[in-house]
Amino acid sequence: MNLLELKDIRVAYGRAPVLHGISLTMAPGTIVAVIGANGAGKTTLLNAVMGVIPSSGTALYDGKPIPPSVEARVAAGLCLVPERRELFTTMSVKDNIDLGGFLRSAAERADTREEVYGRFPRLAERRKQLAGTLSGGERQMLALARALMSRPRLLLLDEPSLGLAPKIVIDILEIVSELRKTGVSILLVEQNARAALEIADHGYLVELGEVRRSGPAAELSHDPALMESYLGLVPE
Ligand SMILES: Nc1ncnc2c1ncn2[C@@H]1O[C@H](COP(=O)(O)OP(=O)(O)OP(=O)(O)O)[C@@H](O)[C@H]1O
Ligand SMILES: [Mg+2]
Repeated sequence: MNLLELKDIRVAYGRAPVLHGISLTMAPGTIVAVIGANGAGKTTLLNAVMGVIPSSGTALYDGKPIPPSVEARVAAGLCLVPERRELFTTMSVKDNIDLGGFLRSAAERADTREEVYGRFPRLAERRKQLAGTLSGGERQMLALARALMSRPRLLLLDEPSLGLAPKIVIDILEIVSELRKTGVSILLVEQNARAALEIADHGYLVELGEVRRSGPAAELSHDPALMESYLGLVPE
């Protein structure tokens, strides 16, 4: 059974339609990459799945209608890491991490925090440092670490590599790829199409609010016409 199944998802801001009927399926334990140019509607799609903006269409989670409220979606294991990381810059790394586990007991939170520190040793070293003084890559790690505190089943990641140097982009995407091994499924929105398709199982190319192409990630990244015409990338 699919973990997530979207059928004909539509979103409009006021009277302006932005998503014109997106359909997408995600098998459990996979990474699905959503790629596309600026303004294609990628962030809008993630926000609709999380329920932070209204949408029409059908969304099934675990084969059942997705819960209606954001809170119920969080409780069901969905977690969004937004494009703007929304860290609390004047709070410590540890306090930011703990906020991600607010729905859980103190004991569960402490256990998961230790696990998260094991995965992100740089954050463990900096646990008392204020989040606002972290480097870009460290902030992205903190945003991921905070998300993991809720023990998500489906992580929605909006441009985790945004603004990072190429070497750090690879590090972050490697961490994302490692997360899949722990059973977390990931819907990954990325401008960095090639790097995203490298770690993804499946890919969807979104253009002007519609799915233009979808398929196995390897197939998409080896399609020169697609990489060139839609994404302006030189084929490898
Ligand atoms: N709150 C809003 N009100 C009105 N229009 C919006 C709003 N948010 C997004 N839009 C418009 O919807 C379209 C899709 O935006 P969206 O942020 O989903 O694109 P994106 O694919 O995430 O782009 P980027 O790669 O630049 O992050 C854009 O034309 C944008 O201007
Ligand atoms: Mg966006």
